[in-house]
Amino acid sequence: MTDRCNFRCTYCMPRELFGPDHAFLERSALLSFEEIVRVVRAAAGHGVSKIRLTGGEPLLRRGLPDLVAMIRAVDGIDDIAMTTNGVLLPDLLPDLVQAGLDRVTVSLDAMDPETFLRMADTKVDVGVVLAAIDASVEAGLGTKVNAVVQRGVNEGQIVPLAEMGRDKGVTVRFIEFMDVGSTNRWTPTDVVSAQEILDTIGAVHPLEGADEHRGTAVADTHRYADGGGTVGVIASVTQPFCATCVRARLSAIGELFTCLFASKGHDLRAFLRDERATDPELVEELGRIWGRRTDRYSEVRHQRQHQPADRVEMSYIGG
Ligand code: GTP
Ligand code: 5AD
Ligand code: SF4
Repeated sequence: MTDRCNFRCTYCMPRELFGPDHAFLERSALLSFEEIVRVVRAAAGHGVSKIRLTGGEPLLRRGLPDLVAMIRAVDGIDDIAMTTNGVLLPDLLPDLVQAGLDRVTVSLDAMDPETFLRMADTKVDVGVVLAAIDASVEAGLGTKVNAVVQRGVNEGQIVPLAEMGRDKGVTVRFIEFMDVGSTNRWTPTDVVSAQEILDTIGAVHPLEGADEHRGTAVADTHRYADGGGTVGVIASVTQPFCATCVRARLSAIGELFTCLFASKGHDLRAFLRDERATDPELVEELGRIWGRRTDRYSEVRHQRQHQPADRVEMSYIGG
């Protein structure tokens, strides 16, 4: 929806590099809602049924509930989700629910106020994000929490976050810190593995084995043995899932990325703005791009020849 965000999470948009001088996308360059929906319709023509709205912070895009309603009306789309940092969510929830949003994933990396402020590099209190999670649950939306774990930064928050999920009845998914983009100074030693995360939680709240039938889901979901709900891990570094990846990502200006770690996208905006280009041609173009895809970055990240120089930033194409 946008490459802008009201947080500056150190692992995503470090303030030194995303400061007042950063060249964000010009608003006039963004795809219009009509153009986005045209792409959604073409994707639905290929069997896409799930749409996730991401950013940056998607709620910074004015009029977002209108887009949700427009996507809701597309034949074949049966699941609309959004990933947000939660700050603007409570105010917009009634309109989003009315428009037909199904699910929300709120990003939250710490329960401890100090750790939260340091990681999100914000002045917003952690209570604001927790209130957004509550509001989403109360509004009846399917609600999950994403937490990125970085060694030496927030391992101590794994159990408190898991317990928050148990208390609120939401699934917390812990994500291994990834080398997305090229600004977050990732090193392999910063990664806390999914196994270590599960061991840490399991030592306090015993867990049952992962669901065997994961399909194309990115998270391994585990059940608490005492019936306290579920918790997930997204092991994109230690157990890559490229082989089952079915996600296409559309940037705010209409580039289609076939991998989270790509350096370049396919320009659909030129196509959308070419008056001669028809909808069936757009469906064909999407098929052509997807059909040629060979991405499997997470499986080959340790091989030097597979390291593109400038990988796209997470804040630019969403999670
Ligand atoms: P549901 O729609 O609730 O099933 O959620 P999801 O698991 O599809 O969630 P989401 O799309 O929010 O993905 C969660 C996180 O997993 C993202 O924010 C990324 O950090 C990570 N992730 C998602 N897709 C990929 C991918 O293709 N590659 C890698 N390496 N990580 C991914
Ligand atoms: N590694 C893992 N997860 C990340 N996210 C952003 N940057 C990274 C990274 N480098 C997470 C956000 C959000 C989701 C979109 O991706 O915290 O939950
Ligand atoms: Fe913003 Fe999400 Fe990136 Fe944090 S992780 S800076 S909330 S886009």
